[in-house]
Amino acid sequence: MSTPDPTAGTLAHRGTAPGTEPDGNDAFAELLAAARAIAEHAYAPYSHFRVGAAALTDDGRLVRGCNVENAGYGVTLCAECGLISELVATGGGRLARFVCVGGDEHLPGDAREVVMPCGRCRQLLSEHAADDLVILTPEGPRSMEQVLPQAFGPADLRA
Ligand code: THU
Repeated sequence: MSTPDPTAGTLAHRGTAPGTEPDGNDAFAELLAAARAIAEHAYAPYSHFRVGAAALTDDGRLVRGCNVENAGYGVTLCAECGLISELVATGGGRLARFVCVGGDEHLPGDAREVVMPCGRCRQLLSEHAADDLVILTPEGPRSMEQVLPQAFGPADLRA
């Protein structure tokens, strides 16, 4: 049984829908700020496109990741890879809210906009998604099923 890492980042808010925090503080505003901040750490010398991903876990932890490119282009790690690695390394659990932002390296950090996770990363997220995961997309909040219908998952391995 894994135990959440108490040193991992946390958000005060949990368990309420985006935009309905009792104190009026939108959890996605915090996640967006976290995603934009971590995007500044991206290693993207080839695409020059910095991506930052941030998620709130079902036990209130903040997990993040940025893209890490490689001279062997296909070896590049998307921001979501780092996020999922942090999720597992800090105690596991399920993703409750997720957002990623992206934009040119020359953009000011607070100007990076919401982008869709790529197809491979939707599969990565799906494995660790809470049933009610909310993904903030450029078209608004969406469920995992909406962004990856009929996902292949652990149950398919038992078929
Ligand atoms: N990228 C991500 O980090 N996540 C995605 O979901 C889409 C793409 C990165 C990979 C590469 O470093 C850069 O964005 C351009 O594709």
